[in-house]
Amino acid sequence: MSVSVVILAAGQGTRMKSDTPKVLHEISGKPMLFHIVEAARALSDDITVVLYHRADAVREAIEAHYDNIAFHLQDAENYPGTGGALRGIEPKHARTLILNGDMPLVTPEALHRLVEPDADIAMSVIKLENPDGYGRVIIEEGEVKEIVEQKDCNEAQLCVDTVNAGVYAVDTALLRRYIPQLRNDNTQKEYYLTDIVKMAVDEGKHVVPVFVEEALFKGVNSKADLADAEAIMQARIKRRWMQEGVRIRMPETVYIDARAVFEGECILENGVTIEGACRIVRSHIKAHSVIEESTMIDSDAGPMAHLRPGSYLEKTHIGNFVEVKKSTLKGVKAGHLSYLGDSEIDEGTNIGAGVITCNYDGKAKYKTRIGKNVFVGSDSQLVAPVTIEDEVLVAAGTTVTKDIRSGALAISRTPLKTVAGFFRKFFGGVQ
Ligand code: UD1
Ligand code: MG
Repeated sequence: MSVSVVILAAGQGTRMKSDTPKVLHEISGKPMLFHIVEAARALSDDITVVLYHRADAVREAIEAHYDNIAFHLQDAENYPGTGGALRGIEPKHARTLILNGDMPLVTPEALHRLVEPDADIAMSVIKLENPDGYGRVIIEEGEVKEIVEQKDCNEAQLCVDTVNAGVYAVDTALLRRYIPQLRNDNTQKEYYLTDIVKMAVDEGKHVVPVFVEEALFKGVNSKADLADAEAIMQARIKRRWMQEGVRIRMPETVYIDARAVFEGECILENGVTIEGACRIVRSHIKAHSVIEESTMIDSDAGPMAHLRPGSYLEKTHIGNFVEVKKSTLKGVKAGHLSYLGDSEIDEGTNIGAGVITCNYDGKAKYKTRIGKNVFVGSDSQLVAPVTIEDEVLVAAGTTVTKDIRSGALAISRTPLKTVAGFFRKFFGGVQ
């Protein structure tokens, strides 16, 4: 079915108390608006986003990720409100689906249900225990008669618990005709999109309520709503990956970015955080590790390991308190307490406890290259830029400040001195 989509995203979002435009606040690593744009793209090839507040910032964010999205700048000074937002928009298709930009949990399947009914207008409604803040929907004999905004409700209308979730599928010809006729004679002096319902009813048109799940149509207006929406999104993301075969221990303690992907059988232990567009293939991430924008293939990390952006691990073991940044490790073991930054480490190499790549001199970052089958002894420092070729043995406690040729031993050590009987002389003791 061909349908046009209009996403309303011009509002300021005052209740977020933030400098970031409301629709750019992230949920599971992606701005709210991106989630909606993606749901819309599953349905339509004609999507318009309505902007006003911080229009440039929102537009740039979308354009950096999606093509083929049209933008419409609302004349919000003269025509404020959700009805004003639609003035001047020319949808291509015979039906127009109108969505709110602050509704990040909606899915293409849920939107399908709104476009399905063959009605002049189909609109999303929810029954709520606490309808506070929403427009109340007056339904008679299975059809919607009117939407009354909370601020315009009388006592009886305030008690109505069926509310407008804010998504509508409207006959485009009707929309074109009604929008210019909207008036702002209400408490907020705004042009309400919701008034098109009454206009349609007065003309004998059919407005069908589609009852929807609150968890899918939840609007985000505050940071508390943002946290609630994220909890719903996280549960959904984890359920999806568990269905794909990822084992998640104590899922409620795990965070997975919406951009992350898993392949094959993976295990995430409790407290794991996966940030950004990670790719995790047949790997085991142990408790309380943080993986950011990295790839792991046939590897394991943690407990309490940290992969920072740009890390690539293949057939590699990373143990506790090991931090890896922008490094490629293939067939490597680094079991304990290391920092490996801007490095390339090859097969069969063992990185001892406490090994540090000194990749930064206070001005610039430098690379460390370590070949195959190298044994780097514990507590060594590798001062970059530096290359350690294949089959090198670096003795424990060595500070490597120059390139080491294949097959060599590298050792820098102050000779050990012992002073017999010193302890008792110094501390005193049994005479
Ligand atoms: C709106 C509905 C209300 C419904 C609720 C559901 C109207 C008049 N009321 O109320 O019945 O229960 O959504 O969440 O439509 N926007 C613009 N331009 C504007 C004003 C708003 O683009 O001038 C956008 C906002 O960015 C937002 C959406 O429209 O994405 C909804 O605006 P909001 O102010 O949240 O409307 P509500 O008062 O919540
Ligand atoms: Mg709202």
